[in-house]
Amino acid sequence: VNRGWLKIGLEEDFAADLTVVSAGGEKILICRLAGTLYACSARCPHAGISMKHAEIEGTILTCPLHGWRFDMGEAGAEIHGYRGLATRNVKIEAGAVYVNEQS
Ligand code: FES
Repeated sequence: VNRGWLKIGLEEDFAADLTVVSAGGEKILICRLAGTLYACSARCPHAGISMKHAEIEGTILTCPLHGWRFDMGEAGAEIHGYRGLATRNVKIEAGAVYVNEQS
């Protein structure tokens, strides 16, 4: 359920593969993967380190610390069945990027 949308910037602010923003008091990782923007928690659900330097392969982010792998194309699910990354919906409207508030 989407409670509302938070504007986090303009589309050109997210040209990099991975960008961290603050939204609603939380750090959010914006991922540009194969041209599509995804949003998730910027903290790995394993030991909480930043995902800012995750490795990218297709839609999969690999945590640099212990290698948990999250598929953003599958709502952040961890591919071994460990805890997934909490994802947010993203929308782009008139060149501005929004993420939904945490539900
Ligand atoms: S902190 Fe990410 S896999 Fe351990």
